[in-house]
Amino acid sequence: TLLIIDFGSQVTQLIARRLRELNVYCEIHPFQNVTPALLAETAPKAVILSGGPASVIDAGSPRPPAEVFELGVPVLGICYGQQVMMEMLGGRVERGDGTSEFGRAWVERKGDKHPDLLTGWFLEAREQVWMSHGDHVAKLAPGFEVLGTSPGAPFAITGDRARHFYAVQFHPEVHHTPNGRTFLENFVKIAGFTGDWTMAAYKDEAIRLIREQVGDARVICGLSGGVDSSVAAVLIHEAIGDQLTCVFVDHGLLRQNEAEEVVGMFRDAYNIPLIHADEADLFLGELEGVSDPEVKRKTIGRLFIDVFQREANKIEGASFLAQGTLYPDVIESVSFSGGPSVTIKSHHNVGGLPEKMGLKLVEPLRELFKDEVRALGHELGLPASFIGRHPFPGPGLAIRCPGEITRDKLEILRKADAVYIDQIRKHGLYDEIWQAFVALLPVRTVGVMGDGRTYDYACALRAVTSVDGMTADYYPFSHDFLGETATRIINEVRGINRVTYDITSKPPGTIEWE
Ligand code: XMP
Repeated sequence: TLLIIDFGSQVTQLIARRLRELNVYCEIHPFQNVTPALLAETAPKAVILSGGPASVIDAGSPRPPAEVFELGVPVLGICYGQQVMMEMLGGRVERGDGTSEFGRAWVERKGDKHPDLLTGWFLEAREQVWMSHGDHVAKLAPGFEVLGTSPGAPFAITGDRARHFYAVQFHPEVHHTPNGRTFLENFVKIAGFTGDWTMAAYKDEAIRLIREQVGDARVICGLSGGVDSSVAAVLIHEAIGDQLTCVFVDHGLLRQNEAEEVVGMFRDAYNIPLIHADEADLFLGELEGVSDPEVKRKTIGRLFIDVFQREANKIEGASFLAQGTLYPDVIESVSFSGGPSVTIKSHHNVGGLPEKMGLKLVEPLRELFKDEVRALGHELGLPASFIGRHPFPGPGLAIRCPGEITRDKLEILRKADAVYIDQIRKHGLYDEIWQAFVALLPVRTVGVMGDGRTYDYACALRAVTSVDGMTADYYPFSHDFLGETATRIINEVRGINRVTYDITSKPPGTIEWE
């Protein structure tokens, strides 16, 4: 085990993610829980002290137990973790007085003997890193030397090679430290990890934890048909079998054949107890005449919760609600720099539900990122075509149909979307694209087909590449592909006579149209 002691940084989970990428087993424990007993129990081969918002200068600021430094294993302190190490091992930290650094910085190598920690580093004169700190180390603890410096952090990289204690001011775990992965890889190699941990082991551990948490209680899981809730449901089913019941709220805003596929797969193929609440009439009725995007989202969110609650109440003796919450969902609204964030879109979730229904939460995917969930789904035997599906938003086609929604428009949109996705699959492009869909525009335009005049809807094709959905760029289809797709849609879908391609990136656009 590699033990990560969490001091509350926004990016602690990223450390874990990088370690999993290196096939190293790690556990994150909040600093309050790290007692000498826990250290003895986990017997870590290395320890990482995370960053955090506190200041070590303040009385009562968080500390790991001193025993961490007596285990005889490598310790890496990151940002706040560095400062804690210096303070506890005999150095000194000072408050930032205008010398704080936030964002990109460049570190230069210091000293001549090249430590193993920096293998693959400083191939160029400087390394780009990501800093985010106010306080800084003013005096090194005994035994430490400086291995790298930046203009705002003279002690950017420090180490005590004899004890293998390393302390850095920057964040090696974030994307903006391009060589950070190598840095962490060097650290785990120093600690003697061989990189033989796998997703199969993660699955077994997750199943053990679910059994431990749930006992013989009953669990309800909201199933949307998306990858996240599906993986959560199959995982939980593997752990507790028919103590699990899934509730699938069908709001009538799904893609072509989607509801049948979800029910078929879970109820028939996996034998998971499933309630299918077909509530298209309710949702479409309430959405009649609604064209404001936020009113649409809120209406769907409210009805979803009503229906879910009604169905869940039928399941007697349930005490847990399972959700496919991912790590990015947990941090989505919190920006990295900690600045205030505004609501761009009201996201569809069942946030307040558990308290309202007196249910406890089971969230087995809470620590994972999307691609890791896919790897776990693969481990659970879910079909590759299913696992690789593009994300689909909770409010469904409602937000791909700007303006008022009608059944006719939804039918046209479903057909066009099916043709478009078929084209993408046929050309072997599906897996290169983060998300692709058709938006049906509330605009009718004049065309000519055969010898007749048409006056039909225009649609927009959208396809983006992205790593996490937070930023995105449009996918550069060939003109041939676009031309062929436009022709197919106009020929095969009655009601559309004009096709456009949306080439807006995010920002300034968003991926969905509403
Ligand atoms: P935007 O449009 O905000 O979308 O750029 C980013 C990603 O989030 C998805 N999305 C949602 N997912 N509930 C969801 O579960 C929602 O209300 C919602 N709105 C957008 C969107 O499809 C894209 O992948």
